[in-house]
Amino acid sequence: MAPDLTGQTAIVTGAAHGIGLEIARQLSSAGASVVVADIDEAAAKEAAGQLTNATAIACDVRDEEQVKSLVESTVATYGGLQVMIPNAGIASVAPIVEMDLAAWRKVTSINFDGVFLAIRYAAPAIIASGGGSIVTIGSVTALAGTPLVSSYAAAKAGVVNLTKTAATELRAFGVRVNAVLPGFVATHLVTDQVQGFETALGLPAHGFDALIEQKQGRYGTVEEIAKAVLFLAGDESSFCSGSGLVLDGGLDAGLF
Ligand SMILES: NC(=O)c1ccc[n+]([C@@H]2O[C@H](COP(=O)([O-])OP(=O)(O)OC[C@H]3O[C@@H](n4cnc5c(N)ncnc54)[C@H](O)[C@@H]3O)[C@@H](O)[C@H]2O)c1
Repeated sequence: MAPDLTGQTAIVTGAAHGIGLEIARQLSSAGASVVVADIDEAAAKEAAGQLTNATAIACDVRDEEQVKSLVESTVATYGGLQVMIPNAGIASVAPIVEMDLAAWRKVTSINFDGVFLAIRYAAPAIIASGGGSIVTIGSVTALAGTPLVSSYAAAKAGVVNLTKTAATELRAFGVRVNAVLPGFVATHLVTDQVQGFETALGLPAHGFDALIEQKQGRYGTVEEIAKAVLFLAGDESSFCSGSGLVLDGGLDAGLF
């Protein structure tokens, strides 16, 4: 059964491109009013313009005032908030011993602090609206050491733990909090880093794609990730909270 989110309002951060855009599309198709929040304001407006009942709001998820105002404007426009998807994220490739602190902080502030701020300000609004669901976007890199993306993997491990803690704190208030943990999906976040991976790992051209094929069969699709997010956002997952749904074609399942 397709999830029905008619009458609900959802915020998706980082929704102008990639996985977030597809999550916003599927939420809109499921009947929700959707706020497309992104640092890329022009693309956010374009995305919202393509969806039914959607609004774009420019927001840098690192900025506490902007995240607070994102939630306040959403509630003022739609009268409440039921679903928050803190999806915005970036990646950067470098060995730990070559990574400078500014690059580390940029990744962790967007991928980890940004998720904290989203939960921090969305949860009270969801509670005031009678309950709802928060779905964070972890990563399979949260589950194992992942060479060259230490800041990203550490931030995602933080997101998975924050998701569980939030689930315990918010259970009594009717707010479920779950994570999806995708493997590799060929969005800009990955494709922009392929050359860096190939150079650092000493792989030939297209060697990274071959590695993905070997480890997870193929790249995942944005549709596959968004479908899982919709499941966790809606009532079909009503007894599910604090969970992490791995979507990685079996990458994390074994050694070979
Ligand atoms: N692509 C993958 O293989 C993969 C795997 C696991 C998890 N993820 C996660 O999925 C999420 C979406 O990534 P994607 O693959 O769609 O990447 P993407 O680069 O296609 O999209 C990321 C979006 O986040 C926005 N963004 C970046 N910095 C921001 C900021 N400071 N404030 C607000 N918005 C900002 C970008 O403008 C963009 O629209 C991320 O959290 C990412 O870590 C992706």
